Amino acid sequence: MATIGILNGGGDCPGLNAAIRAVVRKGVEVYGDRILGFRDGYRGLLDGTAVELTPDSARGILHRGGTILGTSRADPFRVEGGVDLLKRTMETFGAEGLIVVGGEGTLGTAAKLWADGVPIVGVPKTIDNDLAATDFTFGFDTAVQIATDAIDRLHTTAESHNRVMLLEVMGRHAGWIALYSGLAGGADVILIPEEPFDIDEVCSHLSRRQSKGHFFSIVVVAEGAEPKEGTLEVRAYDRDEFGRPKLGGISTVIADEIQRRTGFETRVTILGHVQRGGTPTATDRVLATRYGIAAVDLATVGTWGRMVSLRGQEIVDVSLDEAVSELKVVPRELYEVAEVFFG
Ligand code: F6P
Repeated sequence: MATIGILNGGGDCPGLNAAIRAVVRKGVEVYGDRILGFRDGYRGLLDGTAVELTPDSARGILHRGGTILGTSRADPFRVEGGVDLLKRTMETFGAEGLIVVGGEGTLGTAAKLWADGVPIVGVPKTIDNDLAATDFTFGFDTAVQIATDAIDRLHTTAESHNRVMLLEVMGRHAGWIALYSGLAGGADVILIPEEPFDIDEVCSHLSRRQSKGHFFSIVVVAEGAEPKEGTLEVRAYDRDEFGRPKLGGISTVIADEIQRRTGFETRVTILGHVQRGGTPTATDRVLATRYGIAAVDLATVGTWGRMVSLRGQEIVDVSLDEAVSELKVVPRELYEVAEVFFG
């Protein structure tokens, strides 16, 4: 029996409530744990805002998007005395350790807190799917399905108007959403951060399609996609609370250049936070549930400093340091699969 805090930080995504539900149901009903939900990510540990989570508070949330705890990009290391304040809050509430649900930013902070003596178990969450230590993060499958549905819808209007439609999807450092949804949706060009693009080549793919009598095209662009050095001017981005670029809008620059060079009528859809909203797919509900169960299993017996992870069909756990040591980017050979269908 233990008193365990849980928080989720960074971007929200469908599946968070499924993970929270699993931690609460097994922790309270099986282990007799006390589960404290800290609100709005690490901010709840800085402000001392927490709620005791019971099986009743976890009912009816499995299918709900977002998070009943709220989230933020607050970081105790970016607050004067923030880590000591976090530790004092844990003592005040009697929390023996924390289950931290997050992506590369939130879990990066978790690894530093663990190194500073805070007991932590991590759960990998992000629509970006860019954590190398797990095959998949929850949130990704739902985002891919939302983007694929959007591509399917864009096909009919593109064909009706003989247009080039660009769809910009999320994916800060890695183009997993763009690659998977582009493959699933039959995109004619897919641009990702890992493969800097040449606007000349993009236009050639589109012109080749036109020459074969296909008078519309779909181009999927990851928000982090970048042109090859010196091939296209793009503006600098604003920065978020973690000091990271707030991406968005590269597809508009690309669309304007395509229209200028080819004369093809172009339109842009920036899918944005729609990819993070609504109900999780069954795959994400199951994965988030399995992660939550594995996390509370570890936390209850005091196996700290680990992150639960999916390897093949197995849920395993890896060290937090390994979990955040590198990002998982799209491998060249997988991009070559997508290139078969370009143009
Ligand atoms: O990290 C997940 C993510 O959705 C990224 O894909 C995206 O660039 C970012 O969060 C958006 O952050 P915010 O919700 O703070 O605008």
